[in-house]
Amino acid sequence: MENTPRLVTKRLVLDRLTMADVSQVARWLSSDAVCRGLLLLPHRSPEEYAEMIRRVVEQYDTAEDYFQWAIRENGVCIGRMSLVVNRRHQSGMMAYSLAESAWGKGYMTEALTRVIDFAFDELGLNRIEGDHFVENPASGRVMEKSGMKKEGYARQKYCKEGVFHDAVLYAVLKSDRT
Ligand SMILES: CC(C)(COP(=O)(O)OP(=O)(O)OC[C@H]1O[C@@H](n2cnc3c(N)ncnc32)[C@H](O)[C@@H]1OP(=O)(O)O)[C@@H](O)C(=O)NCCC(=O)NCCS
Repeated sequence: MENTPRLVTKRLVLDRLTMADVSQVARWLSSDAVCRGLLLLPHRSPEEYAEMIRRVVEQYDTAEDYFQWAIRENGVCIGRMSLVVNRRHQSGMMAYSLAESAWGKGYMTEALTRVIDFAFDELGLNRIEGDHFVENPASGRVMEKSGMKKEGYARQKYCKEGVFHDAVLYAVLKSDRT
C-alpha cells in the first residue's frame, strides 16, 4: 500500500502535505482554540511550522505504513489527519485537527469516516482507536458520529505544560461494521 494515498469525500480531498502548505497550516495551528485540544502549543515560530511539515514530507518516501494527510477544501489545507498503524495488532491510532473557521460543518466527521473505511477496507486493519482530552467533547462527538464507541477513560494520560489531562478513549472494530 502506498503511503498516504489521495482519498476523496463529498466535500474534501485528503492527500499529502507539501512545503507549499506551511503558511496556511501555520495560520490555523497558531490558534489558541485549535491547540486547546492538542498536545501542540500555539504561536510557534515560522521556522518551527516549516520544520514540522518538512519532517512529515520527508517520511512519505522513507517510512513504512505512513499516513499523514492534509485535509483540503477547494485545494486549501484546512486540517490534518494522521493514522499510526501497528501491524502486529492490526490496529491504528488516529488524530486530527481542523482550522477554527471550518468547525461545525461536519468536515471532520466526513474526513474521519473516509479514513476509517480506508483503514479497514484497504489496509485490512481490525481496530481503529483515538482519544481526546476530557475537556474537548466535540472530538468525542466526531468519533461517535464516525461509528466509534466510547471505551472508557484514561486518567491523567497526558501532561501538557505541567497540567495532567484525563483522556476519553474511543475505538471501532471491523466486526462493529457488519
Ligand atoms: C474537534 C474538531 C476536530 C471537530 O471538527 P468539526 O469538523 O467541527 O466536527 P463536526 O462538525 O464533524 O462535528 C462536531 C460535533 O461536535 C459537537 N460539538 C461541538 N462543540 C461541542 C461541545 N462543546 N460539546 C459537545 N459537542 C460539541 C457539534 O455539535 C457536532 O455534533 P453534531 O453534528 O451532533 O451537532 C475541531 O473542532 C478541531 O479540530 N478542534 C481543534 C483540534 C482538536 O481538538 N483535535 C482533536 C484532538 S483529539
